[in-house]
Amino acid sequence: MKKAYLGALSIAAAAMIAATFASTAYADHNDPKEGKMVVDDRRSGYTYAIKETQAIQDDDFENPAMIWVEDGGQLWEEVDGKAGKSCQSCHNDAFETMKGVAAAYPKYDAKIKKLKNLEQQINTCRTERMQAKAWKYESNELLQMTMFVRHQSRGMPVNVSIDDEAAQFFAKGKEFYYQRRGALDMACKHCHEDNPGKYARANLLTQGQINGFPTYRLKWQKPGSVHRRFRGCNKNIRAQPLKYGSDEYTNLELYVAWRGRGLPVETPAVRN
Ligand code: HEC
Ligand code: HEC
Repeated sequence: MKKAYLGALSIAAAAMIAATFASTAYADHNDPKEGKMVVDDRRSGYTYAIKETQAIQDDDFENPAMIWVEDGGQLWEEVDGKAGKSCQSCHNDAFETMKGVAAAYPKYDAKIKKLKNLEQQINTCRTERMQAKAWKYESNELLQMTMFVRHQSRGMPVNVSIDDEAAQFFAKGKEFYYQRRGALDMACKHCHEDNPGKYARANLLTQGQINGFPTYRLKWQKPGSVHRRFRGCNKNIRAQPLKYGSDEYTNLELYVAWRGRGLPVETPAVRN
């Protein structure tokens, strides 16, 4: 039923897309800095964005999220916690030691016997290695550091492992993706698999890829994490949003990362 609703909209939407977006969006983008934005049938949200938004992302001087990356770089060097260490004390130059690291997250952690996303890994280092307090989800510091670490993988293909111990968590994430929920009784797939390129109300739907996260949203006027986005999409269909950092969302994060395998890490992406 909900599909029919989107379907009905899509006739008008198709005309609108043809009129306003066809010449700018949907283009393959091969900026060597960013990598290839289309891999097989997988498309970054970038390719659906209007060209003004793309331009903001493309220009590091204009991209408002770059300040967050830079602030993350400062935090990297700051001593904090009882151990008297900074990230740099152990990991040295992030440009070398963090290159490619984030492209493989979330990943299975044998110690906690479940998945860990990048935010959680950063906080593990803070609590266990620095004896510092964990940063709260969606705090400026955690966003800045996550963006800084992910930025070191910019242009590199998303490359998560879904084998061995990760497989069972991947399966759970996949199940979540296809499960209907909320008052609108919709699953992620109804919007992001069945209808990318069509409008849901005023919004042009994309494949819901996460290669650009934490993403700067013009609507938010700040960056947000993957889990913030998941919560927003849950709320849109009037489903109860889950907690930041919940196992369900981290499993979902692995599944959605895999759906975008091979797409370049774009952090910091800019979206409407
Ligand atoms: C006292 C040393 C130490 C400090 C300080 C430290 N880390 Fe770590 N970090 C480690 C060790 C050891 C590992 C690998 C084992 C593990 O996962 O705990 C690691 C792993 C990581 C990883 C995952 C690497 C991978 O290949 O998956 C990231 C990301 C990371 N640290 C980020 C940070 C950040 C950000 C900070 C500062 C907030 C920080 N670390 C502070 C020792 C440290
Ligand atoms: C009713 C339709 C709808 C449903 C259902 C929905 N979303 Fe979304 N989602 C949107 C809209 C609209 C946007 C903003 C435009 C876009 O990027 O598609 C969005 C954006 C996103 C983005 C950001 C993409 C980017 O490039 O920044 C992600 C990630 C995402 N959704 C994931 C999900 C997941 C995971 C689920 C299921 C838990 C879900 N969505 C369910 C409508 C939906």
